Amino acid sequence: MTLPRPEVDIGRVMAGLEALARASDAEPPAVTRIVYTVADLAGRDQIKGLCADTGLAVREDPIGNTFARWDGSRPDLPAVGTGSHIDAIPHSGRFDGTVGVLGALEAIRALKRDGFRPERSIELILFTAEEPTRFGIGCLGSRALCGALTPEAMTALRDNDGRSLDEVRRDAGFTGDLADVRLREGSYAAFVELHIEQGPILEREGIPIGIVTAIAAPAAIRVTWEGEGGHAGAVLMPGRRDALCAAAEAVLAVEAAALSHGGADSVATTGVCRVHPGAINSIPDRVSLEIDIRDTGLGTRDRVVAAVRRAIDEIAGRRGVRARVEPLNADPPAAMAATVREAIRSACDALGLASRPMISRAYHDALFMARLAPTGMIFIPCRGGISHRPEESSEPGEIARGIAVLAMALARLAGAEGARPGQSIGCR
Ligand code: GLV
Ligand code: MN
Ligand code: MN
Repeated sequence: MTLPRPEVDIGRVMAGLEALARASDAEPPAVTRIVYTVADLAGRDQIKGLCADTGLAVREDPIGNTFARWDGSRPDLPAVGTGSHIDAIPHSGRFDGTVGVLGALEAIRALKRDGFRPERSIELILFTAEEPTRFGIGCLGSRALCGALTPEAMTALRDNDGRSLDEVRRDAGFTGDLADVRLREGSYAAFVELHIEQGPILEREGIPIGIVTAIAAPAAIRVTWEGEGGHAGAVLMPGRRDALCAAAEAVLAVEAAALSHGGADSVATTGVCRVHPGAINSIPDRVSLEIDIRDTGLGTRDRVVAAVRRAIDEIAGRRGVRARVEPLNADPPAAMAATVREAIRSACDALGLASRPMISRAYHDALFMARLAPTGMIFIPCRGGISHRPEESSEPGEIARGIAVLAMALARLAGAEGARPGQSIGCR
Protein backbone atom coordinates (compact mmCIF):
# COMPACT_ATOMS: atom_id res chain seq x y z
CA MET A 1 0.00 0.00 0.00
CA THR A 2 1.36 3.46 -0.84
CA LEU A 3 1.12 5.54 2.27
CA PRO A 4 0.17 9.21 2.10
CA ARG A 5 2.57 11.97 3.27
CA PRO A 6 0.12 14.11 5.20
CA GLU A 7 1.02 17.78 5.78
CA VAL A 8 -0.01 18.93 9.23
CA ASP A 9 -1.49 22.43 9.64
CA ILE A 10 -0.07 22.96 13.11
CA GLY A 11 -1.18 26.61 13.25
CA ARG A 12 -4.78 25.45 13.15
CA VAL A 13 -4.17 22.87 15.87
CA MET A 14 -2.49 25.41 18.17
CA ALA A 15 -5.38 27.85 17.58
CA GLY A 16 -7.80 25.05 18.48
CA LEU A 17 -5.86 24.33 21.70
CA GLU A 18 -5.88 28.03 22.55
CA ALA A 19 -9.63 28.31 22.00
CA LEU A 20 -10.30 25.16 23.99
CA ALA A 21 -8.19 26.48 26.89
CA ARG A 22 -10.61 29.43 27.12
CA ALA A 23 -13.47 27.01 27.89
CA SER A 24 -12.34 26.79 31.50
CA ASP A 25 -13.31 27.57 35.07
CA ALA A 26 -9.77 28.64 36.05
CA GLU A 27 -7.72 31.77 35.46
CA PRO A 28 -5.30 31.26 32.50
CA PRO A 29 -2.87 29.66 32.07
CA ALA A 30 -4.59 27.15 34.39
CA VAL A 31 -7.42 25.08 32.94
CA THR A 32 -10.29 23.48 34.88
CA ARG A 33 -12.89 21.70 32.78
CA ILE A 34 -14.97 19.26 34.80
CA VAL A 35 -17.35 16.90 33.04
CA TYR A 36 -20.86 18.24 32.30
CA THR A 37 -20.09 21.78 33.49
CA VAL A 38 -20.73 24.78 31.25
CA ALA A 39 -17.00 24.83 30.41
CA ASP A 40 -17.04 21.16 29.39
CA LEU A 41 -20.14 21.63 27.25
CA ALA A 42 -18.56 24.72 25.62
CA GLY A 43 -15.42 22.71 24.82
CA ARG A 44 -17.51 19.91 23.36
CA ASP A 45 -19.37 22.42 21.17
CA GLN A 46 -16.06 23.66 19.79
CA ILE A 47 -14.96 20.13 18.90
CA LYS A 48 -18.32 19.16 17.39
CA GLY A 49 -18.26 22.35 15.28
CA LEU A 50 -14.77 21.55 13.97
CA CYS A 51 -15.80 17.95 13.21
CA ALA A 52 -18.85 19.13 11.29
CA ASP A 53 -16.67 21.62 9.33
CA THR A 54 -14.45 18.68 8.40
CA GLY A 55 -17.45 16.80 7.00
CA LEU A 56 -17.54 14.16 9.74
CA ALA A 57 -20.83 12.64 10.87
CA VAL A 58 -21.20 13.33 14.60
CA ARG A 59 -23.20 11.29 17.10
CA GLU A 60 -23.32 11.30 20.91
CA ASP A 61 -24.16 8.42 23.22
CA PRO A 62 -26.31 8.65 26.38
CA ILE A 63 -23.38 9.81 28.56
CA GLY A 64 -21.85 12.15 26.00
CA ASN A 65 -19.11 10.01 24.45
CA THR A 66 -18.91 11.70 21.06
CA PHE A 67 -18.09 9.92 17.78
CA ALA A 68 -17.18 11.74 14.56
CA ARG A 69 -16.94 9.42 11.59
CA TRP A 70 -15.14 9.72 8.27
CA ASP A 71 -16.76 7.05 6.18
CA GLY A 72 -14.41 4.74 4.36
CA SER A 73 -15.15 2.98 1.10
CA ARG A 74 -16.13 -0.12 3.13
CA PRO A 75 -18.40 1.23 5.90
CA ASP A 76 -19.48 -2.37 6.52
CA LEU A 77 -16.03 -3.12 8.03
CA PRO A 78 -15.15 -2.27 11.66
CA ALA A 79 -13.75 1.26 11.84
CA VAL A 80 -10.37 2.42 13.09
CA GLY A 81 -10.81 4.59 16.19
CA THR A 82 -8.70 7.44 17.52
CA GLY A 83 -9.23 10.20 20.08
CA SER A 84 -8.91 11.12 23.75
CA HIS A 85 -10.60 13.44 26.28
CA ILE A 86 -11.07 17.16 26.83
CA ASP A 87 -12.02 17.21 30.50
CA ALA A 88 -9.29 18.70 32.70
CA ILE A 89 -8.67 18.28 36.43
CA PRO A 90 -8.77 21.40 38.63
CA HIS A 91 -5.96 23.86 37.96
CA SER A 92 -4.28 21.81 35.25
CA GLY A 93 -2.91 22.48 31.77
CA ARG A 94 -4.16 22.68 28.22
CA PHE A 95 -2.49 19.70 26.52
CA ASP A 96 -3.57 16.61 28.47
CA GLY A 97 -6.13 14.78 26.31
CA THR A 98 -6.85 17.74 24.06
CA VAL A 99 -3.80 16.99 21.88
CA GLY A 100 -5.27 13.56 21.18
CA VAL A 101 -8.64 15.02 20.19
CA LEU A 102 -7.56 18.04 18.13
CA GLY A 103 -4.57 16.03 16.86
CA ALA A 104 -6.83 13.24 15.62
CA LEU A 105 -9.04 15.78 13.89
CA GLU A 106 -6.03 17.33 12.17
CA ALA A 107 -4.75 13.88 11.19
CA ILE A 108 -8.07 13.26 9.44
CA ARG A 109 -7.99 16.70 7.78
CA ALA A 110 -4.40 16.12 6.62
CA LEU A 111 -5.30 12.73 5.13
CA LYS A 112 -8.26 14.30 3.37
CA ARG A 113 -6.13 17.15 1.99
CA ASP A 114 -3.67 14.57 0.72
CA GLY A 115 -6.47 12.91 -1.24
CA PHE A 116 -6.39 9.74 0.86
CA ARG A 117 -9.59 7.72 0.91
CA PRO A 118 -9.68 5.06 3.62
CA GLU A 119 -11.15 1.66 3.13
CA ARG A 120 -12.28 1.33 6.75
CA SER A 121 -14.02 4.29 8.30
CA ILE A 122 -11.90 6.37 10.66
CA GLU A 123 -13.70 7.52 13.79
CA LEU A 124 -12.65 10.24 16.19
CA ILE A 125 -13.88 9.61 19.75
CA LEU A 126 -14.13 12.28 22.44
CA PHE A 127 -14.46 10.26 25.64
CA THR A 128 -16.56 11.53 28.53
CA ALA A 129 -14.74 12.12 31.84
CA GLU A 130 -11.37 10.46 31.52
CA GLU A 131 -10.52 12.34 34.70
CA PRO A 132 -11.96 11.09 38.01
CA THR A 133 -12.60 14.57 39.43
CA ARG A 134 -16.38 14.60 39.52
CA PHE A 135 -17.47 10.98 39.94
CA GLY A 136 -14.34 9.56 41.60
CA ILE A 137 -13.68 7.09 38.80
CA GLY A 138 -11.28 7.60 35.89
CA CYS A 139 -12.08 6.76 32.24
CA LEU A 140 -15.81 6.83 32.91
CA GLY A 141 -16.74 7.02 29.22
CA SER A 142 -14.38 4.37 27.86
CA ARG A 143 -15.03 2.14 30.88
CA ALA A 144 -18.73 2.19 30.00
CA LEU A 145 -18.09 1.70 26.27
CA CYS A 146 -16.29 -1.59 26.90
CA GLY A 147 -18.76 -2.80 29.52
CA ALA A 148 -16.38 -2.56 32.50
CA LEU A 149 -18.84 -0.05 34.00
CA THR A 150 -22.35 -1.47 33.86
CA PRO A 151 -25.54 0.61 33.59
CA GLU A 152 -26.32 -0.37 37.21
CA ALA A 153 -22.91 0.84 38.38
CA MET A 154 -23.39 4.07 36.39
CA THR A 155 -26.76 4.58 38.03
CA ALA A 156 -25.14 4.26 41.47
CA LEU A 157 -22.49 6.91 40.76
CA ARG A 158 -22.76 10.19 42.68
CA ASP A 159 -20.72 13.33 42.23
CA ASN A 160 -19.00 15.24 45.02
CA ASP A 161 -22.25 17.07 45.81
CA GLY A 162 -24.22 13.83 46.01
CA ARG A 163 -25.95 14.31 42.63
CA SER A 164 -26.39 11.19 40.53
CA LEU A 165 -24.65 10.73 37.20
CA ASP A 166 -28.07 10.13 35.72
CA GLU A 167 -29.39 13.49 36.89
CA VAL A 168 -26.29 15.43 35.92
CA ARG A 169 -25.93 13.94 32.44
CA ARG A 170 -29.61 14.63 31.71
CA ASP A 171 -29.19 18.25 32.80
CA ALA A 172 -26.25 18.43 30.39
CA GLY A 173 -28.52 17.23 27.56
CA PHE A 174 -27.47 13.57 27.39
CA THR A 175 -30.54 11.43 27.67
CA GLY A 176 -31.20 7.94 26.40
CA ASP A 177 -30.87 4.54 27.93
CA LEU A 178 -27.60 3.84 29.79
CA ALA A 179 -27.78 0.28 28.47
CA ASP A 180 -27.11 1.70 24.99
CA VAL A 181 -23.65 3.02 25.88
CA ARG A 182 -21.82 -0.29 25.66
CA LEU A 183 -20.32 -0.96 22.23
CA ARG A 184 -20.57 -4.23 20.39
CA GLU A 185 -17.45 -6.43 20.34
CA GLY A 186 -15.79 -5.83 17.00
CA SER A 187 -17.02 -2.24 16.62
CA TYR A 188 -13.42 -1.20 16.01
CA ALA A 189 -10.64 -2.92 14.12
CA ALA A 190 -8.04 -0.89 15.99
CA PHE A 191 -7.72 2.14 18.27
CA VAL A 192 -4.83 4.65 18.49
CA GLU A 193 -4.53 7.46 21.05
CA LEU A 194 -2.09 10.37 20.75
CA HIS A 195 -1.09 11.91 24.09
CA ILE A 196 1.61 13.97 25.75
CA GLU A 197 4.00 11.73 27.67
CA GLN A 198 3.31 13.35 31.08
CA GLY A 199 6.81 12.24 32.08
CA PRO A 200 10.39 13.34 31.34
CA ILE A 201 11.86 10.51 29.27
CA LEU A 202 11.31 11.65 25.66
CA GLU A 203 12.51 15.19 26.36
CA ARG A 204 15.54 13.95 28.29
CA GLU A 205 16.54 11.52 25.55
CA GLY A 206 15.71 13.89 22.66
CA ILE A 207 13.37 11.34 21.08
CA PRO A 208 10.25 12.75 19.40
CA ILE A 209 7.96 9.72 19.59
CA GLY A 210 7.19 7.16 22.29
CA ILE A 211 5.42 3.96 21.34
CA VAL A 212 3.53 2.72 24.36
CA THR A 213 3.93 -0.97 25.14
CA ALA A 214 1.66 -1.15 28.21
CA ILE A 215 -0.40 1.04 30.52
CA ALA A 216 0.21 0.67 34.28
CA ALA A 217 -2.47 -0.71 36.59
CA PRO A 218 -4.40 1.99 38.49
CA ALA A 219 -6.45 1.54 41.65
CA ALA A 220 -8.27 4.03 43.84
CA ILE A 221 -10.08 3.91 47.17
CA ARG A 222 -12.16 6.39 49.15
CA VAL A 223 -11.88 6.30 52.94
CA THR A 224 -14.50 8.02 55.07
CA TRP A 225 -13.45 8.63 58.67
CA GLU A 226 -16.06 9.28 61.31
CA GLY A 227 -15.03 10.54 64.72
CA GLU A 228 -16.63 12.92 67.14
CA GLY A 229 -16.94 16.64 66.61
CA GLY A 230 -17.18 19.34 69.19
CA HIS A 231 -16.04 22.78 70.28
CA ALA A 232 -12.33 23.32 69.57
CA GLY A 233 -11.94 25.29 72.77
CA ALA A 234 -14.18 23.39 75.13
CA VAL A 235 -13.28 19.73 74.49
CA LEU A 236 -10.01 18.80 76.19
CA MET A 237 -7.44 16.70 74.34
CA PRO A 238 -7.68 13.38 76.26
CA GLY A 239 -10.31 11.14 74.66
CA ARG A 240 -10.81 13.18 71.53
CA ARG A 241 -11.78 11.23 68.39
CA ASP A 242 -10.65 13.70 65.75
CA ALA A 243 -11.37 12.34 62.25
CA LEU A 244 -8.78 14.57 60.59
CA CYS A 245 -5.96 13.46 62.92
CA ALA A 246 -6.75 9.85 61.97
CA ALA A 247 -6.87 10.76 58.27
CA ALA A 248 -3.57 12.64 58.58
CA GLU A 249 -1.88 9.51 59.91
CA ALA A 250 -3.38 7.58 57.02
CA VAL A 251 -1.94 10.02 54.46
CA LEU A 252 1.54 9.29 55.78
CA ALA A 253 0.78 5.56 55.87
CA VAL A 254 -0.10 5.70 52.16
CA GLU A 255 3.31 7.15 51.38
CA ALA A 256 5.02 4.62 53.63
CA ALA A 257 3.13 1.71 52.03
CA ALA A 258 4.39 2.57 48.55
CA LEU A 259 7.94 2.98 49.83
CA SER A 260 8.11 -0.13 51.96
CA HIS A 261 5.71 -2.60 50.32
CA GLY A 262 5.99 -1.55 46.65
CA GLY A 263 8.70 -1.67 44.05
CA ALA A 264 10.50 1.01 42.05
CA ASP A 265 7.37 1.55 39.94
CA SER A 266 4.89 1.82 42.83
CA VAL A 267 3.26 5.19 43.39
CA ALA A 268 0.61 6.13 45.95
CA THR A 269 -1.00 9.54 46.37
CA THR A 270 -3.71 11.00 48.58
CA GLY A 271 -5.04 13.78 46.34
CA VAL A 272 -8.39 14.55 47.97
CA CYS A 273 -9.16 15.39 51.61
CA ARG A 274 -12.60 16.76 52.49
CA VAL A 275 -13.10 17.91 56.07
CA HIS A 276 -16.46 18.31 57.78
CA PRO A 277 -17.61 20.72 59.08
CA GLY A 278 -14.46 22.61 57.99
CA ALA A 279 -14.46 25.34 60.62
CA ILE A 280 -11.35 26.46 62.50
CA ASN A 281 -13.06 26.22 65.87
CA SER A 282 -14.72 22.84 65.35
CA ILE A 283 -13.17 19.38 65.81
CA PRO A 284 -13.45 17.53 62.46
CA ASP A 285 -16.06 14.77 62.80
CA ARG A 286 -16.00 13.45 59.23
CA VAL A 287 -13.17 13.32 56.70
CA SER A 288 -13.06 11.74 53.31
CA LEU A 289 -9.78 10.82 51.61
CA GLU A 290 -9.31 9.67 48.01
CA ILE A 291 -6.21 7.59 47.45
CA ASP A 292 -4.65 6.66 44.10
CA ILE A 293 -2.27 3.65 43.94
CA ARG A 294 -0.54 2.41 40.77
CA ASP A 295 2.15 0.08 39.55
CA THR A 296 3.20 -1.52 36.31
CA GLY A 297 2.74 -4.91 38.00
CA LEU A 298 -0.64 -5.96 39.31
CA GLY A 299 0.77 -8.04 42.19
CA THR A 300 2.93 -5.21 43.52
CA ARG A 301 0.08 -2.72 43.13
CA ASP A 302 -2.23 -4.97 45.14
CA ARG A 303 0.41 -5.48 47.82
CA VAL A 304 0.52 -1.71 48.36
CA VAL A 305 -3.29 -1.50 48.42
CA ALA A 306 -3.38 -4.26 51.06
CA ALA A 307 -0.73 -2.48 53.16
CA VAL A 308 -2.76 0.75 53.01
CA ARG A 309 -5.91 -1.07 54.13
CA ARG A 310 -4.08 -2.68 57.06
CA ALA A 311 -2.74 0.71 58.13
CA ILE A 312 -6.23 2.23 57.96
CA ASP A 313 -7.64 -0.53 60.21
CA GLU A 314 -4.83 -0.09 62.69
CA ILE A 315 -5.22 3.71 62.87
CA ALA A 316 -9.01 3.48 63.19
CA GLY A 317 -8.77 0.94 66.04
CA ARG A 318 -6.13 2.86 67.95
CA ARG A 319 -7.91 6.21 67.64
CA GLY A 320 -11.48 4.96 68.15
CA VAL A 321 -12.51 6.46 64.83
CA ARG A 322 -14.62 4.57 62.29
CA ALA A 323 -13.09 4.10 58.82
CA ARG A 324 -15.21 3.00 55.86
CA VAL A 325 -13.16 1.94 52.82
CA GLU A 326 -14.83 2.06 49.41
CA PRO A 327 -12.89 0.65 46.46
CA LEU A 328 -13.40 3.03 43.50
CA ASN A 329 -11.53 0.97 40.94
CA ALA A 330 -8.80 -1.66 40.68
CA ASP A 331 -7.92 -2.14 37.05
CA PRO A 332 -5.39 -4.50 35.53
CA PRO A 333 -2.68 -3.10 33.24
CA ALA A 334 -3.25 -3.22 29.49
CA ALA A 335 -0.77 -4.41 26.87
CA MET A 336 -0.72 -2.50 23.61
CA ALA A 337 -1.26 -4.58 20.47
CA ALA A 338 1.78 -5.55 18.42
CA THR A 339 -0.06 -4.75 15.17
CA VAL A 340 -0.83 -1.18 16.22
CA ARG A 341 2.65 -0.64 17.65
CA GLU A 342 4.04 -1.82 14.34
CA ALA A 343 1.80 0.59 12.40
CA ILE A 344 3.12 3.44 14.59
CA ARG A 345 6.73 2.30 14.23
CA SER A 346 6.55 2.08 10.47
CA ALA A 347 4.95 5.54 10.35
CA CYS A 348 7.96 6.83 12.35
CA ASP A 349 10.34 5.08 9.95
CA ALA A 350 8.58 6.54 6.90
CA LEU A 351 8.80 10.02 8.43
CA GLY A 352 12.43 9.55 9.52
CA LEU A 353 11.54 10.03 13.20
CA ALA A 354 13.30 8.26 16.03
CA SER A 355 11.04 6.42 18.47
CA ARG A 356 11.35 4.33 21.60
CA PRO A 357 9.06 1.85 23.34
CA MET A 358 7.77 3.01 26.70
CA ILE A 359 5.36 2.25 29.53
CA SER A 360 2.54 4.66 30.28
CA ARG A 361 2.42 5.29 34.00
CA ALA A 362 -0.62 7.52 33.58
CA TYR A 363 -3.88 5.89 32.56
CA HIS A 364 -5.75 6.76 29.41
CA ASP A 365 -8.95 5.79 27.62
CA ALA A 366 -6.72 3.38 25.69
CA LEU A 367 -6.62 1.28 28.90
CA PHE A 368 -10.27 0.38 28.29
CA MET A 369 -10.34 0.58 24.49
CA ALA A 370 -7.75 -2.23 24.63
CA ARG A 371 -10.60 -4.47 25.83
CA LEU A 372 -12.55 -3.71 22.66
CA ALA A 373 -9.90 -3.66 19.94
CA PRO A 374 -6.16 -3.96 19.27
CA THR A 375 -4.94 -0.66 20.75
CA GLY A 376 -1.83 1.49 20.70
CA MET A 377 -0.63 4.88 21.93
CA ILE A 378 1.68 7.53 20.52
CA PHE A 379 3.47 9.70 23.09
CA ILE A 380 5.10 13.06 22.37
CA PRO A 381 7.45 14.99 24.69
CA CYS A 382 6.18 17.60 27.13
CA ARG A 383 8.35 20.25 28.76
CA GLY A 384 10.05 19.04 31.93
CA GLY A 385 7.74 16.04 31.96
CA ILE A 386 5.20 18.32 33.68
CA SER A 387 1.50 17.48 33.57
CA HIS A 388 -1.65 18.11 35.64
CA ARG A 389 -0.27 21.61 36.26
CA PRO A 390 -0.83 24.92 34.46
CA GLU A 391 2.81 24.84 33.25
CA GLU A 392 2.08 21.77 31.11
CA SER A 393 3.49 22.44 27.65
CA SER A 394 4.40 20.79 24.38
CA GLU A 395 6.05 22.54 21.42
CA PRO A 396 4.12 22.98 18.16
CA GLY A 397 6.80 20.99 16.31
CA GLU A 398 6.47 18.11 18.76
CA ILE A 399 2.70 18.08 18.42
CA ALA A 400 2.96 18.26 14.62
CA ARG A 401 5.27 15.24 14.54
CA GLY A 402 2.86 13.28 16.73
CA ILE A 403 -0.03 14.14 14.44
CA ALA A 404 1.91 13.15 11.31
CA VAL A 405 2.71 9.78 12.88
CA LEU A 406 -0.91 9.35 13.93
CA ALA A 407 -2.15 10.19 10.42
CA MET A 408 0.16 7.66 8.80
CA ALA A 409 -0.65 4.99 11.37
CA LEU A 410 -4.38 5.56 10.83
CA ALA A 411 -3.91 5.32 7.06
CA ARG A 412 -2.03 2.07 7.45
CA LEU A 413 -4.60 0.59 9.84
CA ALA A 414 -7.60 1.74 7.80
CA GLY A 415 -6.13 0.75 4.44
CA ALA A 416 -6.57 2.71 1.23
CA GLU A 417 -9.63 2.47 -0.97
CA GLY A 418 -8.96 0.02 -3.76
CA ALA A 419 -5.99 -1.61 -2.03
CA ARG A 420 -5.85 -5.36 -2.36
CA PRO A 421 -7.69 -7.12 0.48
CA GLY A 422 -5.40 -7.72 3.44
CA GLN A 423 -3.25 -4.67 2.69
CA SER A 424 -4.55 -2.83 5.69
CA ILE A 425 -2.39 -3.74 8.65
CA GLY A 426 -3.31 -4.92 12.08
CA CYS A 427 -7.04 -5.11 11.57
CA ARG A 428 -9.23 -8.00 12.38
C1 GLV B 1 -4.98 10.45 34.07
O1 GLV B 1 -5.17 11.64 34.07
C2 GLV B 1 -4.28 9.81 35.12
O2 GLV B 1 -4.52 10.17 36.31
O3 GLV B 1 -3.42 8.96 34.84
MN1 MN C 1 -5.02 13.76 33.07
MN1 MN D 1 -5.09 12.43 29.59
